[in-house]
Amino acid sequence: MRISILGTESIVVGYDYTKEITKEILETVKSSTYIIISDSNLNRLNHVKSFENQLTSDIANLNASSRVLTLIIPPTEIVKTRETKEQIENWLLDKKCTRDSCLIALGGGVIGDMIGFVASTFMRGIPIIQIPTTLLAMVDSSVGGKTAVDTPHGKNLIGSFHQPSRIFIDTKYLRTLPKREFSNGMAEVIKTACIWDEKEFEFLENNYEKILAFSDGSLVNDETSQILVKAILGSVKVKAHVVTVDEKESGLRGLLNFGHSIGHAFEAILTPQVLHGECVSIGMVKEAEIACHLGHLKEVNVGRLSRCLKSYDLPISIEDKMIKNVAPHKSCPVEKVLDIMRIDKKNQGNEKRIVLLSGIGKTFEQKASFVSDEVIRKILSPAVIVVPPEFPHRVNQLISLNVPGSKSISNRALLLAALGDGPCRLSGLLHSDDVQVMLSALQKLIGITFCWEDDGETLLIHGNGGNLRTCEGEIYLGNAGTASRFLTSVCSLIKVRGSEQCSDVILTGNARMKQRPIAPLVDALVANGAKISYLGNEGALPLQIKAETGLLGGTINLSASISSQYVSSILMSAPYAVNPVTLILTGNAVISQPYIDMTISMMKSFGIEVVRDSEKLNTYHIPKGVYRNPAEYLIEADASSATYPLAFAAVTGSTVKVMNIGFKSLQGDAEFAVKVLRVMGCRVEQTETTTTVQGPVNQNLKPIKSIDMETLTDAFLTASVIAPYASSDDSSTRIFGIENQRVKECDRIAAMVEQLSRFGVKCKENPDGLTVEAIDGKNYHPPTNGGVFCYDDHRVAMSFSIFVCGLRDKSKKTIILEKKCVDKTWPGWWNTLENVLGVNVIGVDLLPETNLKSVDYPVKFNKSIILIGMRGAGKTHAGKFLAKSLKRKFIDLDEYLENYLKCPIPFIISSKGWEYFRQQELAVLQKVLSEHQHDAIIATGGGIVETVEARELLKSSCGKTDQHNSKSELLDISDSKLLKFHVIHIKRSDMQQVFDYLSEDKSRPAFTNDLMKVWNTRKEWYEDCSSSEFIIVKEEHENWRQVERDLLEFVKFITGLSDNSEVVSFPGLNNLKDPSFFLSLTFKNFEKELKNLQIERFCDGLNLLELRIDLLESMDLDFIGKQLFILRRLLKRKIPVLFTIRTINQGGKYDDQTKESLLTYFKILSRSLKWGVEYLDVEILNYNLSENCHSIRTSMAETIISNKNNTKILASFHDCHGSFHWVAKSSISHKSDRFSLIEVENSFGFVFEKLRNSGADIIKLIGTASSINDNFDLKRFVDFIVPCMNHSNIPLIALNMGMRGQLSRCLNHFLTPVTHKDMPFAAAPGQLSISEINETKKLIGLLSPKRFSLIGYPISRSLSPLIHNTGFQVLGLPHHYELNESKDFNEVVEKIKIAFINDYYGGSSVTIPYKESVLNSGLLNETSEAVKLIGACNTIIPKKNEKGDSILYGENTDWKGITVNFEKILENSNVSANEKRIGIVIGAGGTARAAAYSLYKLNCTEIRIYNRTFEKAELISKEFNLKVNENNSSLRFHAIKNTAELFKNDGNHNDGKTRFLIVSTIPGSAQEETNFKNVFASLKSTAESESSSIAGGILIDMAYLPKQTEYLKFFKILSDKDSSDIEFEKCEGLEVLLTQAYEQFFHWTGFQAPEFAIRNTVLNNE
Ligand SMILES: NC(=O)c1ccc[n+]([C@@H]2O[C@H](COP(=O)([O-])OP(=O)(O)OC[C@H]3O[C@@H](n4cnc5c(N)ncnc54)[C@H](O)[C@@H]3O)[C@@H](O)[C@H]2O)c1
Ligand SMILES: [Zn+2]
Repeated sequence: MRISILGTESIVVGYDYTKEITKEILETVKSSTYIIISDSNLNRLNHVKSFENQLTSDIANLNASSRVLTLIIPPTEIVKTRETKEQIENWLLDKKCTRDSCLIALGGGVIGDMIGFVASTFMRGIPIIQIPTTLLAMVDSSVGGKTAVDTPHGKNLIGSFHQPSRIFIDTKYLRTLPKREFSNGMAEVIKTACIWDEKEFEFLENNYEKILAFSDGSLVNDETSQILVKAILGSVKVKAHVVTVDEKESGLRGLLNFGHSIGHAFEAILTPQVLHGECVSIGMVKEAEIACHLGHLKEVNVGRLSRCLKSYDLPISIEDKMIKNVAPHKSCPVEKVLDIMRIDKKNQGNEKRIVLLSGIGKTFEQKASFVSDEVIRKILSPAVIVVPPEFPHRVNQLISLNVPGSKSISNRALLLAALGDGPCRLSGLLHSDDVQVMLSALQKLIGITFCWEDDGETLLIHGNGGNLRTCEGEIYLGNAGTASRFLTSVCSLIKVRGSEQCSDVILTGNARMKQRPIAPLVDALVANGAKISYLGNEGALPLQIKAETGLLGGTINLSASISSQYVSSILMSAPYAVNPVTLILTGNAVISQPYIDMTISMMKSFGIEVVRDSEKLNTYHIPKGVYRNPAEYLIEADASSATYPLAFAAVTGSTVKVMNIGFKSLQGDAEFAVKVLRVMGCRVEQTETTTTVQGPVNQNLKPIKSIDMETLTDAFLTASVIAPYASSDDSSTRIFGIENQRVKECDRIAAMVEQLSRFGVKCKENPDGLTVEAIDGKNYHPPTNGGVFCYDDHRVAMSFSIFVCGLRDKSKKTIILEKKCVDKTWPGWWNTLENVLGVNVIGVDLLPETNLKSVDYPVKFNKSIILIGMRGAGKTHAGKFLAKSLKRKFIDLDEYLENYLKCPIPFIISSKGWEYFRQQELAVLQKVLSEHQHDAIIATGGGIVETVEARELLKSSCGKTDQHNSKSELLDISDSKLLKFHVIHIKRSDMQQVFDYLSEDKSRPAFTNDLMKVWNTRKEWYEDCSSSEFIIVKEEHENWRQVERDLLEFVKFITGLSDNSEVVSFPGLNNLKDPSFFLSLTFKNFEKELKNLQIERFCDGLNLLELRIDLLESMDLDFIGKQLFILRRLLKRKIPVLFTIRTINQGGKYDDQTKESLLTYFKILSRSLKWGVEYLDVEILNYNLSENCHSIRTSMAETIISNKNNTKILASFHDCHGSFHWVAKSSISHKSDRFSLIEVENSFGFVFEKLRNSGADIIKLIGTASSINDNFDLKRFVDFIVPCMNHSNIPLIALNMGMRGQLSRCLNHFLTPVTHKDMPFAAAPGQLSISEINETKKLIGLLSPKRFSLIGYPISRSLSPLIHNTGFQVLGLPHHYELNESKDFNEVVEKIKIAFINDYYGGSSVTIPYKESVLNSGLLNETSEAVKLIGACNTIIPKKNEKGDSILYGENTDWKGITVNFEKILENSNVSANEKRIGIVIGAGGTARAAAYSLYKLNCTEIRIYNRTFEKAELISKEFNLKVNENNSSLRFHAIKNTAELFKNDGNHNDGKTRFLIVSTIPGSAQEETNFKNVFASLKSTAESESSSIAGGILIDMAYLPKQTEYLKFFKILSDKDSSDIEFEKCEGLEVLLTQAYEQFFHWTGFQAPEFAIRNTVLNNE
């Protein structure tokens, strides 16, 4: 078969005709050399060889002398690059190919596009033959002459038009094509039909089974082969025609881009995991939705298109299961998608070009149309914002509308017509997921054919009289309840037939469907002869239904108290049973009688009359027979859906008329207007077929008090969202009779209560319904955290959109999540709400973090914490401490039990025995856990793990599922999505210590067993039952302070919160602009080697410490854990730890070559997650492993990463052998005549892709340099290749190892690994220290020297130059710090300006007397918030503002210095939770201002300022009261006149003691003269006389010359205290000076100041 394109019949279509192909090639293109280029997949499948053989033998037969060359390149998009093109060209030149060569592209679109491009430029263009082997290539890429290669900036950006001489389409190739690739091509086929030809589309709709059967080889015969060829021809003809009319794409050809504008944008993110056609499939649905929204296309067509795509296994949304499976860690934020569309060559500004359908087979324009961003955003967004309209809304206007058809009636009508005899036209059908699911199931089961008429308004079905059959594979029913119930009975009717291969049908659904009950129906059917078995959970889908005798008929008993759908299901199938059926409903109450009546009435319309027994009302008689299809059947509107626009009228004061539902309706919910809205005070008019409601314009909705909604259950959601708007004294509404709503799409009663409460509506659940109260003033507010969560339930979504419309305050915009769930019954709901009801609806996409869909909702950050562990490990102590610090409730389970049983535990045990005690303990645990899911710290008894039940309870509490998930079993890992409690195992590194202590304690029950034996049995249980493990390391003497500090940090980390609800932040990751470093600790045993080494020395300038586990002397888990916790103790948690096990293969010591050792590797990693490591190194790729181990590695790594919680994952890859390259290298072998491979797999780009897709937070790629050029390649990779691949901006560490790679260590910016001179050995070859790196950077011009200064007067004795210059020197920075001393401020400023303009200015410290005046000097362009509040600046920083201009920025680090030092002391003080703090500031200069600000930040309730000149103190206090106090009414600043009043403690503060935080800013030289020693003495005496109300005082002296000032000396006398527990602590000014200088240092240089070195130098200076 031939098709003409651009005037030549150059497209040939056929099946298995290689002979003719080669013959025609040799005839049409005479050539000296024929070059076949293909990929290794096709080569492996022998396609290349057989083609080559045919061609060679034909040439021989012709006695011609032409050569045949073959080149095989690796498959997939990744090779479609300029580099590959260049290599192919080099190879062609090497082979002496000339102008008369002919290229033959045998392969998919990748080969076709790239070889086409080669042909178009080689020797200014040579002929090319296309032999497409994928469906996509056949119908699309091979036709039309577009050729291209990709660049990192995007796909197909470089290319040309070059028409092939011939295109040979041979469908035989499709038989080896993977299924997914086939579907991928079908997307283009469907696309073409969709824009061009409705008949063609219909053909595709009806033949999907045969087409797919040909492709997967299950049914290859003449018929299927012809059908496939017809489908391909249909598509190719259109494309050929369009290309002929518009070759260079100026208009018409643009139509072929339907689905591509949006599809391409998704593809940019989702490639390569998701294929082009799959993205286009999603794009088509979205673009059709846009056409719908703009009013060009009817909603029904979107459903039709989606269904057709689905039947070819194509995804229709990015939420699709398949997409989530192949690209689990990728997301497509709407703004990102729009951004990508912005750079598409075809778009313009804020408008995008999109092909708008106007029907199936028709488009709105003969080209793509412009669509605004706003509309696209709306359609793409997963959530919507609903803006409440003005009240009253559209008065004097009648809003009328049609509501979609009833789902119940649609489904029934479809089923009846399919089972019936003859044609039937159904109109008004609902186009929803449910109906689609039903339609495609019926197609499979009955083989009905159907077609759409009137633009999809009418469906013509040809029923086949109940002639049912089995079918291959499963029938997937999604979450469609009706379909699954109805079809279960239908499938039971199938009788076995000899000819069929398959003897059963499997019905399955989504996760929720697999929980919904179906047992009563199945029981009834099985009792009547059906053979049904459950394949999953008992009583739910999936079901396997065996074809045997069919239903026997006779009497069927059915328990009908859960769902009327069971009843309808049996009723409708009953006529086809072997004998007439008598259906008897058993059970208490039969629910939803209206639905049963509806079924009976509809069956009557289809010719079967059910008789309800006149005496026994619950008995129905159904005759045998076949449904007779009426020629036409009109489906009425969905009465439940109609409640939304009607309720809208009620809450907005508008008038709404629903045109297709009235009192004659079969549906119970049709009574909503009369039974609910009229009672609430709306005007309701109802005719046979219409309903009109007018809401009160004065907002006076009346409460209904109490209503039985049993006959209109689905409308209860609508009723409960208008109930809060009722107004009267007693306006609570009780809705009952709706128990069945608990087992719908979700537990709807619970859902409504949960979501309404989030708006501040008072409501509660009852067993049979709920009670909703309207609150005074109707002061409802949108939920603050996230939006309305809809539980994937259409009714929840629609009712809340109505609730929001009732909010009176227009500014209260509410987000409704999961907007798509309305598709189930009203796909056009959001369009109707906007376009018909007139409400502003805006699309929003929440950031991935706030997109709450995947986590259990509502997110509770405050999950309770359970502490388990051996007796005496410290659980109670730890629990009390945590409760106090985190302000939570503490529950000691033992204590609770004693109170509960009113009996001490030893007594319980001695009188009733251990078993009884354990039972009671378990019961109490269950009770406590159910009552305290949040905000509690629960300490358990040591033996809690002794019973299986308690263990199971603890395990499931901490997210360890019992489903035999061998992976998580093996790894002992908590599923972070299932974690309900944090269960922390408190463990001692030295158990003996605990036992010694226990044996002394007589108050505890005696152990009969040897303690060590007990520990050995329980150890594993504790591990099993916990999600985290905290190890208390043995010290010579117990130091609980340190343990507490470590524990608190630990808990804050694992719960993801600090106590003030801020998420834990990570140094290094926060500010990617600043250089950052980490050091690898290469010790074998910290306890032995590190303790005396002062670990601080290693930390200078670092952001992270790497703990190299593989270098430790033992791999024992207990040993490793102890090392980690020792390290933390030493580090005081100042620097986070990176936990790394480096394998031999990647340059470490750990041998992971056996399966066991590999599993141990992952076991240790997962344990480190339990220890809450901040960063974890994971080797996701490792090439030298056997195939088997490789897959273990991949899946284990995946498990670890998806349960990482707050740990950041660093995915690392080390190529120690230099076999990977940063940029593509030519590697086609020039010698080989046959073929060779370009090894893409050996490129870092390839590795990067893999690691990026793993869900890691940081990527680390390490190569090995063999020459200096490798470093430049690396730089090219980082600067040009990565930015194009790295959509989510994952930070990257990229380095070359070895001496020749040292340069790369200077080029890397983020987390560069460094060594230290005191380390036993460097962790990697070529590693440098920070100073070496900086010195090199200076030499190669990457770091320019800057000058820093101190401005002030007099400053000659200042320590600042020493501090900063030491810092510069230690880190190897080429900077210098000097004094800029002058009494003349202008002179000072001039110097700064000159340095700034000449680009060597680094920054300045500011001191007396300029801290305040610098603010008004005009020198600074911007200042920080703190500076504005304080009114003083001590740091000047040159930097770039947002626009990129260089500016001078004013900062204040004084207050930080003060705050940090107070915090340090407070951390080690005995602070009680309700302690009160009073701040005292002595002095009133710039420093005093910073002090006042710091005290305010430290939560002082009162701040007293004293100064010799009272007016100055008063000025500050006034200013601060004004600025700071806006939001905080309890805080006051007071200026104090009389020193005697400074330490007054107004005794009425009886709930906690007072602590004074004192800051003196008086210079050391002036301290002799003041009377402050007396004042301090008075503090001491007050404290002693009022010791019950005063906790103590802390003095920070800002003066540091001399180091021990008079005040400090005197305060020391106070703190050398007697026996009293009053705490007096002090801090030298030098400490504050240092702390604030470290801050300055960081601000100026971006480097962490080397604190250890600076402190040592400064102290030795004296
Ligand atoms: N020029 C155009 O107008 C145009 C139009 C659409 C798409 N494209 C381009 O086409 C490319 C995609 O083409 P594709 O989908 O054919 O991908 P592809 O060429 O990568 O082929 C897909 C996979 O199937 C394998 N394969 C090919 N034929 C096979 C067979 N008969 N049996 C078994 N395996 C087989 C390939 O080795 C490859 O792994 C993209 O680069 C896209 O940009 C171009
Ligand atoms: Zn395409």
